[in-house]
Amino acid sequence: MKGIVLAGGSGTRLGPLTRSMSKQIMPVFDKPMIYYPLSVLMLAGIREIAVITTPRDQAVFQGLLGDSSQFGISLTYVVQDHPRGISDAFNLCATFIGDAPVTLILGDNLYYGHGLSQILQTSIVPAISGATIFSYHVHDARRYGVVSVDADGRATEIEEKPEKPKSSLAVTGLYVYDNSVVDRVRALKPSARGELEITDLNRTYLDEGKLHVTPLGRGIAWLDTGTPEALLEASEFVRSLQ
Ligand code: G1P
Repeated sequence: MKGIVLAGGSGTRLGPLTRSMSKQIMPVFDKPMIYYPLSVLMLAGIREIAVITTPRDQAVFQGLLGDSSQFGISLTYVVQDHPRGISDAFNLCATFIGDAPVTLILGDNLYYGHGLSQILQTSIVPAISGATIFSYHVHDARRYGVVSVDADGRATEIEEKPEKPKSSLAVTGLYVYDNSVVDRVRALKPSARGELEITDLNRTYLDEGKLHVTPLGRGIAWLDTGTPEALLEASEFVRSLQ
């Protein structure tokens, strides 16, 4: 299983903090933000990880993480020169992925809680056919990808930032795919906003009955860091737990 941390993007909602520095370098209490998603991949037992950054920020991440052999992992740095959407990560990393399955985590998503490593290890390691996403109950689902499930927890529908969400289950920024993801992304068409949407990619699996949904329960916190308020709350949350 290969891993990818997507740490590109311009972080406009955090300006001026992000005007000359990547959002994923911002502190969340006592650590740079990217430490948190990186540790999620490590908890899942993934050792070969690609870090996607903008051309501007690559040297900063290399300065921070080096080759990370001190953490027992091997890092590869990949540049995204233009924001073409989350799914573009699989185009950029096609060589790195080779013929392996792959787990993608967004560099600004924080997962924290009891039993997380067990959830990750049972959901990620055996996932060799199809895709697995992780859902989380939220109050304002319109801000996220939203998945609907049937009585058995099987995905029935997935939409990106719907005006009228059909469920309160947000699709969090952690995705596990079999190796067919590379070909699926090559066949994706950009959305109206010109991006290769992760939700469109997930729908290709859903349409074939191959999209698995792992619910994250109340024991797990999933935190957003997209606005100054959310970033501060994430810092306060980590400080109180530590
Ligand atoms: C992205 C995805 C969305 C997902 C969210 C999780 O949205 O498009 O489906 O729910 O990440 O953080 P963004 O936050 O980039 O707008």
